[in-house]
Amino acid sequence: NHFSENFSSLKGKKILVTAGPTKEVIDPVRFLTNRSSGKMGYAIAEAANNFGANVTLVSGPTTLTPPANVNFVQIESAQEMYEQVMNYYHDTDIVIKAAAVADYRPATKYEQKMKKKDGDLIIQLERTIDILKTLGERKEKQILVGFAAETENVQAYAEKKLKSKNLDMIVANNVTQEGAGFGVDTNILTIYTKQGEKLELPLLSKQEAAKEILKKAATFLK
Ligand code: CTP
Ligand code: CA
Repeated sequence: NHFSENFSSLKGKKILVTAGPTKEVIDPVRFLTNRSSGKMGYAIAEAANNFGANVTLVSGPTTLTPPANVNFVQIESAQEMYEQVMNYYHDTDIVIKAAAVADYRPATKYEQKMKKKDGDLIIQLERTIDILKTLGERKEKQILVGFAAETENVQAYAEKKLKSKNLDMIVANNVTQEGAGFGVDTNILTIYTKQGEKLELPLLSKQEAAKEILKKAATFLK
């Protein structure tokens, strides 16, 4: 049947999913983050678990309840996500990086609350590590699935990330499109593969979108 044809290969496979935003501390009362709700990544983790995969979910701070029966690893910063992902990477079949990882963090973490002063404030930011790019450089047998959150030139940027991060497939969306992106329960996705395929999905619930992503990822399993 439909189910076994498309998803049976996921049974027993080790799938590592990252989800949510990261939180980058400025001082004890302030931090930088982004609009990610975690819904897409949690839906993927839940669906993969339902298909019999052995799922680890590395998540930044969200308001969601972790799906039952997944190995749930809570982190805050991009650096913590990097360390946890690296712990699991070697022993993973498929990595799905749905998290919205901060690209920059404050260069200095102040131990005390910063006090306001006259005039403007400049906070120096430094780059975080690109987790997915590092995974691409250290790829063994893992299937790497990236996401691309864009506001313009979706295809060009997504294809560039697919290549530069050595991915097998990338899931792109225009986060400014109605019904897509951050916070909402639906998504409008286009999947690009390293073989040059382009799969345009209609507006779907994040649960349905998760199944489509897993179905495509499963085609890379030997
Ligand atoms: N990603 C990551 N580590 C980072 C930044 C991004 O692993 N420090 C991953 C995301 O989880 C996602 C993919 O890289 O799967 C693309 O993220 P995105 O923010 O769309 O692209 P960037 O490469 O960060 O480029 P930019 O934000 O400039 O578009
Ligand atoms: Ca980014």
